[in-house]
Amino acid sequence: MTKVSPSMLSADFSRLGEELVRVEAAGADWAHLDVMDGMFVPNITFGPPIIKSIRRLSRIFFDAHLMIEDPARYVNAFADAGCDMITVHCEADGDIYEAIDRIKGRGLKAGVSLNPETPASKIIPYLDGADLALVMTVHPGFGGQSFIGECVPKISEIREWADRKGKKLEISVDGGINADTGKVCADAGATVLVAGSSLFRLNDMSPEIAKWKLYGPTL
Ligand code: DX5
Ligand code: ZN
Repeated sequence: MTKVSPSMLSADFSRLGEELVRVEAAGADWAHLDVMDGMFVPNITFGPPIIKSIRRLSRIFFDAHLMIEDPARYVNAFADAGCDMITVHCEADGDIYEAIDRIKGRGLKAGVSLNPETPASKIIPYLDGADLALVMTVHPGFGGQSFIGECVPKISEIREWADRKGKKLEISVDGGINADTGKVCADAGATVLVAGSSLFRLNDMSPEIAKWKLYGPTL
């Protein structure tokens, strides 16, 4: 089944713990945590202390998306906070191989992400040591943007690469994902659908999550 990872960026931050519990109760597979440093992207969100504070409320898989420069510096802090997977950007400053090594060294799943304008060839070298490729389908930094359809061929390209290598690789997509765009991405080879605004605007996101889980080819 396709996994659904609601992005907590669209949650009501004044009730972040309750929102996390709501996501888990709705049947989400993962909870997506968008960390922004005001440098890699213009926005600033939250860091390890906030993640640690909500970690005790739920055992759901914490899918941390680090939109930060030199992510290797912070791997231990996010691991200590209770993240299950840490995804770093291939465009970020610093040694991305070192970041992946540190994530794997802590026994966590490692992901590598690429921006809409970055070709798939740029992340391929990192994927041998990773568990997931995160294909951004909007420019990172803000929720509620429109899906960029031109990114879809990169999903197929990465999936074909993984198939040729016989590698089990999750591919997640993030940005402007709703029932329609999520289906397009799952059909192209995505196995994890990240969505903020399209799920959080619903009073009950569980029927939508149940529907998305039936999309597309899966691992
Ligand atoms: C954007 C974040 C996304 C964001 C998606 O930089 O990485 O996870 O929350 O929000 P929607 O689904 O509203 O595009
Ligand atoms: Zn994200």
